[in-house]
Amino acid sequence: MNSKLYKKVFPFTHHFYPLHKYTKSDGNYVKEFFNALSSKKSVKTENLLYIHIPFCLHHCLFCPFHATTNRNSEDMRKYTEAIVREMDMFSRFEYIKDMTINAIYFGGGSPSLMPIDEIKKIIDSIKKCFRITSDCEWSFEGEPITLANEELMHFLKEQNISRISYGIQTFNQELRDKLEIVAPLDDVQKCLELAKKYKFDDINVDMLYYLPGQTIEDLKTDMENINRLGFTSIDYYYLSYFGFPERVFKGMEDGSFPKRPSEYDRYCMHEYVTNSMIELGYNKVTENIFSKQNEPSEFYRLCWGGGYGEYSAETIAIGCSGRGYINGYSYANTTNPYKFIDEVMNNEIPIFKVSDRLDEEENRGIVFFPRFLKISKSKIIGTRYFDFFKKLIDDGLMVESDGYYCLTTKGTFYSPSITIDLFESKQVEISDIWLKEYESNYDNKTCR
Ligand SMILES: C[S@@+](CC[C@H](N)C(=O)[O-])C[C@H]1O[C@@H](n2cnc3c(N)ncnc32)[C@H](O)[C@@H]1O
Ligand code: SF4
Repeated sequence: MNSKLYKKVFPFTHHFYPLHKYTKSDGNYVKEFFNALSSKKSVKTENLLYIHIPFCLHHCLFCPFHATTNRNSEDMRKYTEAIVREMDMFSRFEYIKDMTINAIYFGGGSPSLMPIDEIKKIIDSIKKCFRITSDCEWSFEGEPITLANEELMHFLKEQNISRISYGIQTFNQELRDKLEIVAPLDDVQKCLELAKKYKFDDINVDMLYYLPGQTIEDLKTDMENINRLGFTSIDYYYLSYFGFPERVFKGMEDGSFPKRPSEYDRYCMHEYVTNSMIELGYNKVTENIFSKQNEPSEFYRLCWGGGYGEYSAETIAIGCSGRGYINGYSYANTTNPYKFIDEVMNNEIPIFKVSDRLDEEENRGIVFFPRFLKISKSKIIGTRYFDFFKKLIDDGLMVESDGYYCLTTKGTFYSPSITIDLFESKQVEISDIWLKEYESNYDNKTCR
């Protein structure tokens, strides 16, 4: 675990780059982005369409994502109407007209909560508004209670959804109860049986380690269950504590809630998960993804620029709190679903934040390379990267092999820190502001 370069791992992961800087009140910058959308697209790129559905059955205690537990069918109908209208508005921009979609992702929240009629309206609208490749990967995310529904699975298969994904997190029932993960393990099993019955190409689940009170023994049981059930791919994340409410940290202090494992335990769990998943026959295809296939899903590859140092892949994000990247700009949609609906129904594009362009667009591919574990030497521009990579090699975080720079298992542990060190200087300034905000959060003041 010891590193000369890093005392500790940077506390959060950047999923989008360049970082969002300007809000709507910085009018000109947002206008600049709209101008970029109105121009012709000059370079052909691979493209992802992300659709965010914010509804959940229950808010898991640890989850920092934007999800509402409102299950009112009228609100779901209004939300559908809003995203259908948003797609229509977006598809009228010159730049968007020139895009072809290679992968589509329904993410959340829990899209499986939406009534089938509403999902159908969204799929029909996608087909009407965008040009889609014939081999497009269609992914649909859900949570086990609502996904364990034969009518829904049958419908998704009929609609050519190729990839199903749902969260398990852990098989330990005591931990599930503590963390308020409400889905019974029977539904986890039923989802898998249905997904196998309908022969989805990729059956993906999310798992978590570094949970409060979790031990390597618990992980061993999780591995046995993974092996018994057999999924195609697994996203195995370490738990970020940012989402927990203050009462949980107080509980960790007064002993009424299990404690966070130590940093050293976290490293041991990282190593244990990596080695065990490989022993079970999964390939480590990205920092957090283990797959029976040799590559990550198209969704992840395109979301992070195209993979292995590629930087040009773009994302159109639809729905509240969706985050996209188009024509050199990252952007974020309005977070609150009800505000989002109001804005769209008033014919406003519901964008809340926009980034600057990078000085060198190739930097985006280099920043995302740790996700893919390796980068071809031919993708690297500029001596600063070579100097930095030499330091990573000296520190045991990286090795050179067949024209590639590859992260070691220790390197992937420090991946969030390595990522920051690859940022352009203007992006580091924004990241520093975010770090200060993060450090004022309750979870940093206690329980370390
Ligand atoms: C945003 S959820 C959407 C899928 C679906 N709602 C579910 O939970 O099955 C996707 C995944 O994010 C992961 N996640 C949620 N909170 C997290 C946290 N605090 N740290 C790390 N991963 C987290 C979980 O593994 C979860 O399955
Ligand atoms: S982990 Fe999934 S089900 Fe749980 S609150 Fe987050 S989005 Fe909803």
